[in-house]
Amino acid sequence: MCGIVGYIGDRNSVPLLVEGLKRLEYRGYDSAGVTVLEDGHLETRKTAGKITALEKLLGNGEAPHGSVGIAHTRWATHGPPNTQNAHPHTDCTGEIAVAHNGIIENAGVLRTKLESLGHRFASETDTEVVAHLIEEAWDGKLEDAVRAALRQVEGAFGLAIMSSRDPGTLVAARKGSPLLIGIGRDGEYYIASDVAAVLAQTRQVVYLDDGEMAVLTRDGYETFKLDGRSVDKEVREIEWDLEAIEKGGFEHFMLKEIVEQPETLRNTMRGRLLDEEGTAKLGGVTISPAELKSIQRIIITGCGTSWHAGLLGGYMLEELARLPAEVEYASEFRYRNPVVDENTLVIAISQSGETADTLAAMREARRRGARVMGIVNVVGSTIARESDFGIYLHAGPEIGVASTKAFTSQVVALALFTLLLGRLRNLSVLQGREIVAALRRLPEQVEQVLGLNDSIREIARTYKSAPNFLYLGRGYNFPTALEGALKLKEISYIHAEGLPAAEMKHGPIALIDENMPVVVIAPNDNVYSKITSNVQEVKARGGRIIAVVTEGNLELDGMVDHLIPIPATIDPLTPVLATVPLQLLAYHVAVMRGCNVDMPRNLAKSVTVE
Ligand code: M6R
Repeated sequence: MCGIVGYIGDRNSVPLLVEGLKRLEYRGYDSAGVTVLEDGHLETRKTAGKITALEKLLGNGEAPHGSVGIAHTRWATHGPPNTQNAHPHTDCTGEIAVAHNGIIENAGVLRTKLESLGHRFASETDTEVVAHLIEEAWDGKLEDAVRAALRQVEGAFGLAIMSSRDPGTLVAARKGSPLLIGIGRDGEYYIASDVAAVLAQTRQVVYLDDGEMAVLTRDGYETFKLDGRSVDKEVREIEWDLEAIEKGGFEHFMLKEIVEQPETLRNTMRGRLLDEEGTAKLGGVTISPAELKSIQRIIITGCGTSWHAGLLGGYMLEELARLPAEVEYASEFRYRNPVVDENTLVIAISQSGETADTLAAMREARRRGARVMGIVNVVGSTIARESDFGIYLHAGPEIGVASTKAFTSQVVALALFTLLLGRLRNLSVLQGREIVAALRRLPEQVEQVLGLNDSIREIARTYKSAPNFLYLGRGYNFPTALEGALKLKEISYIHAEGLPAAEMKHGPIALIDENMPVVVIAPNDNVYSKITSNVQEVKARGGRIIAVVTEGNLELDGMVDHLIPIPATIDPLTPVLATVPLQLLAYHVAVMRGCNVDMPRNLAKSVTVE
């Protein structure tokens, strides 16, 4: 995700800022920029692309020189990843500059208000409103104007702000997006969104908490609540090395990304749930309610994990929005002769937004007159650009080849779209509210499931040498079984199959013996009683059973070898909670087998060839 670095001291800030940005490169980004105070005015250099492109720009005799500056690497959320949308952003006068991580939820409303007051915007970003709000609130002091501006802002932010009107000051503010102050040599202070950015200069940092801000000058720093009350903060000594920090202290990106899921799910839902109306508000779904109502059929397409999320979306749309929904591998769809027309909505799901088969499938659908909605994580990617409209996941960069946080966000994005369509069609407000409430509970419930990590590691130890695994599920959890099996096979190289549990008796049951671990996903849903019979069938043949069940359900205790309890939720959301332990199981098995978890053999993160 985006990265922030700020510096105030007595050295030229530019090399320090660029060095800091480079330390944040591992997080993923699509553009970069710096603003520096030079001879009393602000100089900004920014560009789409990598930091090397920014360095080129700076190296071209263009580098500003000054000892106060802020810098940013952007991972696009509002507006495509181009130079214009790169941070820092400035106000109308060019005297206030802002670098921002997070999402300003009420940016649209604020922008309209500011435009009516005469402010001119230079970018499509949500961030730019902050610069104009500060300009509007200016009363002689940067920190006061920032406070006044932030009172109007809803959403999440980590901010580094500077102004030529208050030249010896940097302001940092945090709500929902990490931010810290680095204490450098005498009279040097840093702002960073991640300790990796300042580690080469200092190991002494002060972490800001949500709702706090800091004012930095060459004489020191002060920390406050956003409302102005002063707070004392502890200075911490960082002991990690850089490599450990890039992975947030985790051994692998995959584990980091699994653990991030409560936060990424919050980000996917941020500002999109309407509790009272029991529906979703999706800014990227730019077609009118009437057009949405005219959709008669839905085809969902994608590959791998994204296809699994698509299967779940198909079930949800059919059950809750009462629309016929088919789900197709993109690689198959593109070469069929599919029947689609202008009343067909094709949903293309892709984390990367660059998968060749998904792209070809959506192009084929468009050529035949269908409308295409993208559900994509990477903003400005090809699928995002070529879709008629879409939903971004806001899950942040996914670096591990095995998709984890993108999957749970895809399922939630599909649930949001189902809510929107369902409420336009047949879903009652009470049903809608029930789904909204269940979605709101989800991040905390995922946190609870992550607490099972130690016991799942022990299960992994028991089965790490098994040559095969079966995963069984029914209804909404058949796709969960497919996803669990895919995770295991791609990172541990163990052969694993996901099956609809009742299909077992039509063949695969012949594989069951005491050497076959069978993962059964059996939450208390509308097919629970059916799947318990399948558990009996496996038990009768000596299979070793790992059952994912709803907490408090002890019915299978004694019949199965291991119980993994997950919190109760509505049926369509059980896969989100059930998938997390399966991700952890695959992860621990792969680590114990000595596999390269983040970069498994023969695989690429983004499959851009056919
Ligand atoms: O970027 P996409 O979501 O389009 O990628 C699709 C698949 O290649 C991807 O999900 C793949 O199956 C992952 N390695 C699964 O973990």
